[in-house]
Amino acid sequence: MNATDARRFAAATQRNRAPILAVLARVLPERGLVLEIASGTGEHAVVFAQALPALVFQPSDTEPESLASIEGWRARSALPNVRRALALDVHALPWPLRDPPDAILCINMIHIAPWSACLALLDGAAAVLAPGAPLVLYGPYRAGGAHTAPSNAAFDASLRERDVRWGVRDQEEVAAEAAARGLALEEVVEMPANNRTLVLRRRAGPQRD
Ligand SMILES: C[S@@+](CC[C@H](N)C(=O)[O-])C[C@H]1O[C@@H](n2cnc3c(N)ncnc32)[C@H](O)[C@@H]1O
Repeated sequence: MNATDARRFAAATQRNRAPILAVLARVLPERGLVLEIASGTGEHAVVFAQALPALVFQPSDTEPESLASIEGWRARSALPNVRRALALDVHALPWPLRDPPDAILCINMIHIAPWSACLALLDGAAAVLAPGAPLVLYGPYRAGGAHTAPSNAAFDASLRERDVRWGVRDQEEVAAEAAARGLALEEVVEMPANNRTLVLRRRAGPQRD
């Protein structure tokens, strides 16, 4: 890395990239445009784009440092199927997209952001996804009104200490808000380290129930 290299590294992406990729390879469309929300360092977008060359990845984030890091990873990879990082805050609807995505991916954002960010993500996804297109969410979730592991309870407490608006979300609450926007929960995949992947799909018909 040289002095102008803005690439950042997130240790968790090393651990979770392979399990997430295994799900993506199964649930994403064979080809098309994948919008990644809250790409963070940009490592995921590059790894997934390399593994799934028939898809084009559009990484995005709201923080300038993240956008610079994503750009660093993109440029370094020289992959033809990763677009330049897009400045996108989920709250700023409509999203500034050049083309409608065929799928949306969001890893580890909704618990490290206010609840309004989750709702805005669902609003934005419902507005741009065509019927049948997936929204894939990865992270820790509470289920049945309880944490799924003591480590998630501790993580939740630490998040709320950092920002009272943050916290591990209830899977059922996310699914209910998604359903109200025409995004049906298709599958919940148990992931390593007590995380889950929620696969939601845009239903045909009217946008809202
Ligand atoms: C914990 S990081 C996860 C980054 C990456 N997805 C990963 O798994 O390494 C959370 C990310 O959410 C982004 N974020 C927070 N609020 C956001 C918002 N309102 N719109 C878009 N991105 C947001 C942050 O900038 C940060 O990059």
